[in-house]
Amino acid sequence: MFCAAQSGGMVKPSAFNYKWLAQLDARVPRYTSYPTAPHFHNGVTAATVNSWLERKDLSEPLSLYLHIPFCWKLCWYCGCNTTITKTYAPVPPYLETLLAELALVVEKLPRRGRLSHLHFGGGTPSLLSPKDFRRVMAAITKYFDFVDRAGISIEIDPRGFTASRAKAYDEEGITRASIGVQDFDAAVQKAIHRFQPFEMVAKTVDDLRKNGVMPINFDLIYGLPHQTKKRLLKA
Ligand SMILES: C[S@@+](CC[C@H](N)C(=O)[O-])C[C@H]1O[C@@H](n2cnc3c(N)ncnc32)[C@H](O)[C@@H]1O
Ligand code: SF4
Repeated sequence: MFCAAQSGGMVKPSAFNYKWLAQLDARVPRYTSYPTAPHFHNGVTAATVNSWLERKDLSEPLSLYLHIPFCWKLCWYCGCNTTITKTYAPVPPYLETLLAELALVVEKLPRRGRLSHLHFGGGTPSLLSPKDFRRVMAAITKYFDFVDRAGISIEIDPRGFTASRAKAYDEEGITRASIGVQDFDAAVQKAIHRFQPFEMVAKTVDDLRKNGVMPINFDLIYGLPHQTKKRLLKA
């Protein structure tokens, strides 16, 4: 399986060939963090992490990742760290904790840092209300400066996406939107428990474009039930 959002990669249609795709058809570990989860152990304590932060060389810009571990529905292939919630109720307390943790991290840094990359991942960060998204951005700009042409990106689920979110993203400086599509085929969507008609994705793209968010990528997954070369090309 291949996730364009996490690789940040882009494949030019002219460079696409199936021989190359066949080479990707192998089982590999899924890297969503570094070090990966099996390498975490009790020997790394809060004191260890604090000593890393205190010695951080801030002459180079930093990358910051914020995780929003909530979704409205579970996709049956999902390997992300998330919790399914039927209401927005758990989100505000989570944000309180997230911002408190951010303050603790910043307190340990030797001085004010500069960000070259900021990424909102999940779960579903686009589930944040525009008000909460702005609040998180305000906290980040309180603690960090951005370098020129910094990349600020967010993962978006088209289900439940709104123009008011697109407006907030533009106003807060989002430079790239990553939309979860996976596959346009209705039978595949049924098999993975993820229903999102083409028109829903098109509206999400439209909302983003109308609000000035230009670079957009789609997450597509290969290896899902019912997927064949023929069906993929048709969809
Ligand atoms: C956090 S989600 C993107 C935002 C939103 N939650 C959504 O699904 O639209 C990140 C991406 O990870 C990919 N992904 C999730 N589970 C995966 C798995 N088991 N293997 C490969 N890719 C996976 C999907 O392509 C998904 O769009
Ligand atoms: S919406 Fe995204 S994070 Fe949530 S379950 Fe589906 S793929 Fe996983």
